[in-house]
Amino acid sequence: MAKPLIFANWKNHPKSFKDAKKLLEVTRKAAEKAPGFSVIVAPPMMYLRELSATKSTKIKFAAQAMHWDEEGAHTGESTLSQIEESKVSYVLIGHAERRARGETNDDTRRNVELALNRGMIPALCVGEKERDSDGAYFMQIRDQIREGLRSAPMAKVGKVIIAYEPVWNIGAEETMNPRQMHEMAIFIRKTIYDAHGKLGLNTTVLYGGSVNEKNAAQMLALGDVQGLLVGHSSIDEGKITALLGSFSRLK
Ligand code: PGA
Repeated sequence: MAKPLIFANWKNHPKSFKDAKKLLEVTRKAAEKAPGFSVIVAPPMMYLRELSATKSTKIKFAAQAMHWDEEGAHTGESTLSQIEESKVSYVLIGHAERRARGETNDDTRRNVELALNRGMIPALCVGEKERDSDGAYFMQIRDQIREGLRSAPMAKVGKVIIAYEPVWNIGAEETMNPRQMHEMAIFIRKTIYDAHGKLGLNTTVLYGGSVNEKNAAQMLALGDVQGLLVGHSSIDEGKITALLGSFSRLK
């Protein structure tokens, strides 16, 4: 089995480049003590190029977003070619905070296709805004996945990571119940299987939403996920150290 992925999404933190360098150093040290895991850091775009030049065998880097157009009038966006000037292997696509600002399933589709064609690993973020009692949220997840992967090159679709982040659980206190995640992980794989065949059975699924040092190990053990997308706990030096340290119990 591949090493579980711990994806640190720093969002728009920390406040200064100096703090970012310090946070990276703390994360790197903690990652070195968690040898069974791959740690991927997604810093703000402004810090990416310099931070990703850091020599580390333990940490890889991701961009938090990209724009599929290779050049154009898209104020504030970054193209894949610009991102490729940093040492980046992954890119988050369709994060809930970007979808909330207008990123569509069609944007995610174009981004996934381009990233795969250029050898980058896309982590397609999906998640429902709220849960209803009759399960309509499953259809929302199915649409986000189907649309996002619709033009992915067949030979490479198996490389896509699906990061499931229920929007109602982002920035909260606790993760969702790992049993609910397990159910969702099966649904995600089945959705990809139905559209793309058996590659779907091996899809890497991450859980994200209020992961912290107290609940991370349990989610990995019981949630049927191959990794975690960590937001606010990844920008706190004490929490990320404790979180990465908590996995020793899993070995
Ligand atoms: P959170 O964020 O861990 O702060 O809930 C996760 C995310 O939005 O990626």
